[in-house]
Amino acid sequence: IRDGFHGLMSPEDYSDGGLINLSRESVRGISHLGGTIIGSTNKGNPTAYPVQQEDGTWVEVDRTHELLERFKEAGIDALVTVGGDGSLSIGNHLFQHGLRVVGVPKTIDNDLDKTHVTFGFDTAVDFATECIDRLVSTATSHNRVIVVEVMGRTKGWIATYAGIAGGADAIIIPEHEYDIEEIVATLRRRHRKGIKYSIVVVAEGVAPPPGFEPVEQRKDAFGFDRLGGVGYAIAAAIEARTGFESRVSVLGHVQRGGTPSAFDRVLATRLGVGAADFAIEGQSGVMAALRSERIVAVPLSEAVDSIRGVPERLYETAQTFFG
Ligand code: F6P
Repeated sequence: IRDGFHGLMSPEDYSDGGLINLSRESVRGISHLGGTIIGSTNKGNPTAYPVQQEDGTWVEVDRTHELLERFKEAGIDALVTVGGDGSLSIGNHLFQHGLRVVGVPKTIDNDLDKTHVTFGFDTAVDFATECIDRLVSTATSHNRVIVVEVMGRTKGWIATYAGIAGGADAIIIPEHEYDIEEIVATLRRRHRKGIKYSIVVVAEGVAPPPGFEPVEQRKDAFGFDRLGGVGYAIAAAIEARTGFESRVSVLGHVQRGGTPSAFDRVLATRLGVGAADFAIEGQSGVMAALRSERIVAVPLSEAVDSIRGVPERLYETAQTFFG
């Protein structure tokens, strides 16, 4: 535990070797908050933990057994892993090494196949949709193309949902190969019909158009590509080909924070209660999942095995309204 959150946790709460007792009192009144109250971060991996050497270089060390020892010493008999495929895969790894683990699917990306939906996604879609609605005003008033860049490293759920909800004229997502010339042709057709503005929604993980470099070329502390900015390359390519003024709005991390939607609050509550029940029942190596309105336990190994992209049929529905 590195820190408290908004002063909700007093130093006494985390003075005991970094442990917080998550009592009713300590979690009271937090359901309207985003972020993490325990100050956890989700991109570390105990199997490849970065350790800095004396010469300043970093090596990856497998700290699985050390971690298991620490769980044992602390008297923790079950771990509840809350996160997306990365965090849940780590949970699954620890389960395979003998720890009792229950997963809770939480990711803005909505890409876990074994649950109907993950919490965080609905809030992000609502926010991105409101942003698109607002951007339409500038697009129409100034006859501009506006490229709206949303989150999505490998899957384009937010782009597709917010794009459909916001009436996007084109949606570019990682799982559907795009041709910038086709996008341009769509926007030109609109102009010929007298509609002089367009909204193009882009997932931040898509490749830039040919001839353009990613704007952000650095890696994060865990070796992942830092994302953000591909919308600029796409807007430049559109403007170069059409002459239409093309502007960019990168929504970035504002999609992650703030007030969760009522849907996400209820889903998170139900999955949390489900996970606690599964742990108390003695289940392990499972993930709480929403299936046909019921919270059920699905094998964690299966949950992390298949990442779900936007189905072609859904993308085609969005495409029906392009242009
Ligand atoms: O994995 C979740 C996710 O939110 C992706 O959708 C997003 O593209 C990525 O993380 C960006 O995260 P950050 O900029 O914080 O590294």
